[in-house]
Amino acid sequence: MKLQLALDDITLEDALELVEKVKDYIDIIEVGTPLVIEEGMRPVRALRKHFPDKEILADLKIMDAGYYETEEALKAGADYVTVLGVTDTLTVKGCVEAANAYGKEVVVDMICVSDMPKRIAELEDAGVHGLSVHIGVDQQAAGIEPIDDLRLMKAHTRKAKISVAGGINIDTIPMYAKEKPDVMIVGGGICHAKNPIVAAKEIYEALKGCE
Ligand code: 5RP
Ligand code: MG
Repeated sequence: MKLQLALDDITLEDALELVEKVKDYIDIIEVGTPLVIEEGMRPVRALRKHFPDKEILADLKIMDAGYYETEEALKAGADYVTVLGVTDTLTVKGCVEAANAYGKEVVVDMICVSDMPKRIAELEDAGVHGLSVHIGVDQQAAGIEPIDDLRLMKAHTRKAKISVAGGINIDTIPMYAKEKPDVMIVGGGICHAKNPIVAAKEIYEALKGCE
C-alpha cells in the first residue's frame, strides 16, 4: 500500500517545506485541487524539480477537455492525473489516451458516482489505470465516510488500482488498511495535525505494519 499526501489548503512554499520533512514517509505527492486552483501547474513543476524521484499526482478533477488538460499536467511533470467519474466517458478516454502517450496514468475520482458497479465496469473498459473512492470535504462534514464505497469498489474492480480518500487519519487508518487498497490518500490527517511530521511517520508506519 502506498501513502499519498494531499497538499490542499497550503501555500506552495509551505508545501515544499513540508514535503522535504516528510518525504521518507510518503510515496506519492498529491498537488491538491485547491493548490491547483491557486497556482496552476507551478506546484507540479516545483515539486518535480525538488523531488525528482517521487511520484506526483495532479488532482485536476478533469470534467472536460480530457486530452488537453491531462497533457498539461503530464508536461509539467505529473505521473498521475485525476478525472471525475461523473463526466462523459469520451472525456475519460481523452485522459487515458494522453496518459498512455506519455507512459503515465489516469486515476478516476468517483466522488458522487451513484451506480458504482456499473460505472466501474464502463471505466475499466475505457482503460483507466486507477479508481479512487472519494468522500469530499462537504460530505465529510455531513458525517459520511468512504469505508462502504471502498468495500463496494473492491468487490467490483477487475484490474484498476484502487485508492481511497476522505478524512482518513491515524485513528481510522487500520479500518481502511484492512480492505487493502493500493493507495491510501491523506490530506488533513497530516497537514492539519498538531505535528504533521509525526503524523506522517505514524500513518506511514501504521500502513506498512498492515501489509
Ligand atoms: C478534496 C480532495 C482531498 O485531497 C482528499 O479528500 C484528501 O484530503 P482529506 O484527507 O483531507 O479528505 O481531493 O476534494
Ligand atoms: Mg485531492
